[in-house]
Amino acid sequence: CGIVAARVDGGAAPYLLRALTLLEYRGYDSAGVAIVTEDASTAVIRSVGRVGGLTTDVAAWSGAPLTGLGIGHTRWATHGAVTTGNAHPHRDCTGRISVAHNGIIENHRALRQELEADGHAFASDVDSEVVCHLIEDHLESSGDLLRSVHAATRRLEGSWALVVTDADTGRLVAAAHHSPLIVASSAIGDFVTSDIGAIADWVDEYRTLVDGDIVELADELVWTRDGQRTAAPQAALCPFTSAALERGSHADYMAKEIDEQPAIAARILDDLVPHIADGSLWRSLEAPAFERIAVLGCGTSLNAGRVIARAFGALGGIPTVSVVASEASETILDPGTLILALSQSGETADILRALDQLEPVSAGLVAVTNNPASSVARRAASVVDCNAGPEIGVAATKTFVAQVITGVAVAVSALVATGRIDRSRAADLTDDLRRLPDLLAQALEVSKGVVPGIVDEVLDRSGFIFLGRGPGVVFAEEGALKLKEISYRWAEHYPAGELKHGPLALVDQGTPVIVVDNGDPRLASNLSEVAARGGRVITIGGAGSTIPAVGMSMSRPLVGGMDRWGPLEAVVPLQLFARELALRLGLDVDKPRNLAKSVTVE
Ligand code: G6P
Repeated sequence: CGIVAARVDGGAAPYLLRALTLLEYRGYDSAGVAIVTEDASTAVIRSVGRVGGLTTDVAAWSGAPLTGLGIGHTRWATHGAVTTGNAHPHRDCTGRISVAHNGIIENHRALRQELEADGHAFASDVDSEVVCHLIEDHLESSGDLLRSVHAATRRLEGSWALVVTDADTGRLVAAAHHSPLIVASSAIGDFVTSDIGAIADWVDEYRTLVDGDIVELADELVWTRDGQRTAAPQAALCPFTSAALERGSHADYMAKEIDEQPAIAARILDDLVPHIADGSLWRSLEAPAFERIAVLGCGTSLNAGRVIARAFGALGGIPTVSVVASEASETILDPGTLILALSQSGETADILRALDQLEPVSAGLVAVTNNPASSVARRAASVVDCNAGPEIGVAATKTFVAQVITGVAVAVSALVATGRIDRSRAADLTDDLRRLPDLLAQALEVSKGVVPGIVDEVLDRSGFIFLGRGPGVVFAEEGALKLKEISYRWAEHYPAGELKHGPLALVDQGTPVIVVDNGDPRLASNLSEVAARGGRVITIGGAGSTIPAVGMSMSRPLVGGMDRWGPLEAVVPLQLFARELALRLGLDVDKPRNLAKSVTVE
């Protein structure tokens, strides 16, 4: 979900709608605004679906004129169906208080029962609505919005980023606990949002609320914690303008982000290469000594972590484990284990909760993230910015490549800095990394020519199998994940040797079997087993493959780095394959159903 609030001169509506458009990738089930009107009531305008529909509804508003004070929300449904009534903002019984909320109120059932028993009538099924009624209760006794938000949040369990308006007094308060929220002041006015990108055009710097902070946006910012005034945190500079969020001439963000990969890889390596082989990259992180590595993440970031873990293991003989963040409670860490947390957004709730459990029993934490101002980054003493620029497509593409390259560079640097490999070996590995931008560019060119024809042949297939061996397995997994996310077709991945132990039963005439061919000779017999059952084998590998996209710009057909961190360029045809299939099926590749870019609930 995404949140915004504005306190500006003139009308708030254009600012709220623009920001919601930029936040839409955070959730797109429904959207809404609550804007205080000149007659001190509130216009609450909400609609199911995209922000475009909401914009039309706001334009059609015929009530009292709208002021410069308002809040907005774009929703990814957790509690309650996707309906207008469940869309945010929500209101109290009097209509005076409006609230937009990100996060989850875990004790909402008990609170709702208590409030209903006290006579509050609820208008939605949403957990967030309890916040409006709690504030309403306290406002009756205290008459003060800021004090009421303090009192109300003391009753809450769970996570929240809240923006609250009081139509009677024209006040605006923001509060955060375990959910990101920032405040920024500018010549235009004051803004609150869950994502700096939404307001980047209007502000130069911003301040991030820490857990428990409650801020009133008045003529000055009134920053409070535990009911007391407190100093506002240091301001951070806005990292980009919203131009970085435009899709330019590309048909969709996914296309743009796939195309950017060679340039991003080159930029990252330009920055990092001088600091890899001498170990200075690692030393600059001031990370603790370690005996083992645990990579922690969700979705595509976890897959990137697995590639990085393999580099630590294959190059330095370091035992590694990969931890699915939502299952962290099943993991027992050796005390010498350094956690490498990977998160594009740095805000994924599963990761934050996993860190609560794992970090205290670990050697330390290094965060690899695309958002160095994020919650995950703030928790880590050592932070590596994977520097991919804003990623808008919900299915991660360029951040996978950026995380892998950054993480492998960190791994090589760590191994040399800790004496596990010597400098000349580190220099060879750095040379291999340097080839990646070319390999990615070549993979793009080759794949764009070949993939559409292959998709033609498999358009009507309902299920897909992705195979790999050794370092190729994780790329098969990432390929299957992309296909599921955006085409809604069933896709399974397996280590190729496992096929004969069960999944081969799925293969019949024409079943597409996509193989990440890292040159492992044992793949040949696995593919024969598929072909013998009529499966349609599609190989992604070197020369002679169905999609000859791997190692193609090299004098040797297969790059040496492949044994260490896998054929990274294989991800390009996998991304393009998923996108092409989804487009042919008429789907929105940037905003797949049921998903959101950043999931801030467990
Ligand atoms: C969501 C997104 C995925 C992403 C995952 C982890 O589920 O839809 O694309 O891989 O979160 O996100 P993170 O920001 O932690 O990398």
